[in-house]
Amino acid sequence: MAARATNIGELTGFAADVRAGLTRSGQKELPSKYLYDEVGSKLFEVISLLPEYGLTRADERLLRRHAREIAKALPAGTLVAELGSGSGTKTRWILEAFGRRAHTSYFPIEISRSALAVCQRELSDIDSISIVGCEREYLDGLLEVTARRHKGQQILVLFLGSTIGNFDAPADVTFLSEVRRLLAPGDALLLGTDLEKPLPRLIAAYDDAIGVTAAFNLNLLARANRELGADFALDRFRHEARFNPTTRSIEMHLRSECEQRVTVAAAGFSVRFEQGETIWTETSHKYSLDEVERIAERSGFRREAQWIDPEWPFAETLLMA
Ligand SMILES: C[S@@+](CC[C@H](N)C(=O)[O-])C[C@H]1O[C@@H](n2cnc3c(N)ncnc32)[C@H](O)[C@@H]1O
Repeated sequence: MAARATNIGELTGFAADVRAGLTRSGQKELPSKYLYDEVGSKLFEVISLLPEYGLTRADERLLRRHAREIAKALPAGTLVAELGSGSGTKTRWILEAFGRRAHTSYFPIEISRSALAVCQRELSDIDSISIVGCEREYLDGLLEVTARRHKGQQILVLFLGSTIGNFDAPADVTFLSEVRRLLAPGDALLLGTDLEKPLPRLIAAYDDAIGVTAAFNLNLLARANRELGADFALDRFRHEARFNPTTRSIEMHLRSECEQRVTVAAAGFSVRFEQGETIWTETSHKYSLDEVERIAERSGFRREAQWIDPEWPFAETLLMA
């Protein structure tokens, strides 16, 4: 499979993960976190506006309606951290509710530098809020944030947009357990989870009519071309959204339209694709309410409150550490 000999130990980050994911035996994969470079983060913002993608609007409706209750469940002055904030648009409701009670520090934790910059800029007008951006992976960022808490100060961690659904079971519980381990009793996690819904509605949300989600997915290959000198011909791959009934997840794939060979120069390898073979790029698990309860409990959290959007089934759950 590899055209040139390269020491994989020399590769780091994107190059190493692209090589590992495309040269593994069986299903080729690329980690979904690489969907979010500057172009990808902007495309995700557009996806969140599409009529087919009701998830973000449901999440925002719940936050807008219940922000005060959420803020009141925690002491004034609680430190707010957000895992994968993106542009932070929906977070405004929560921050305004906290800011009305006391001066509040907000730490968006993001690997996308451009999304983090938008978040800091867009939320900077909220009264009584200081924003400290943290360009880190989720847990590294949260560890840094916990080190900054004052004695006796509580932390609320936001994990919105059903981003938890990007973790395959049991990695979701492993991840939430890690989050719990970094928190102290009295801290809280606000967890957004997209709930099960009819299949046509789900598929349309990840395969919209004007092709924004397709562009978002294909941008991963374009990113490899830009950053790693890869030679993916984008018109030879097609976006695919499919439902896996066993895992109850929408999977995004990129399907090779023909037999072809692709070289990734900066990662020192080339790889063959069969016609019809796919690269798995993202998982979005759809939850039942029982399952939300179960993963929370298994991760060491206790459910304090839950709100559900009836229009686009989506749950916002406040969990206590
Ligand atoms: C599905 S988007 C959700 C954005 C926003 N929270 C929302 O609900 O609209 C996931 C976000 O998490 C960020 N992200 C993905 N993997 C990450 C990681 N390992 N560490 C930190 N941020 C990550 C992405 O850059 C992206 O902005």
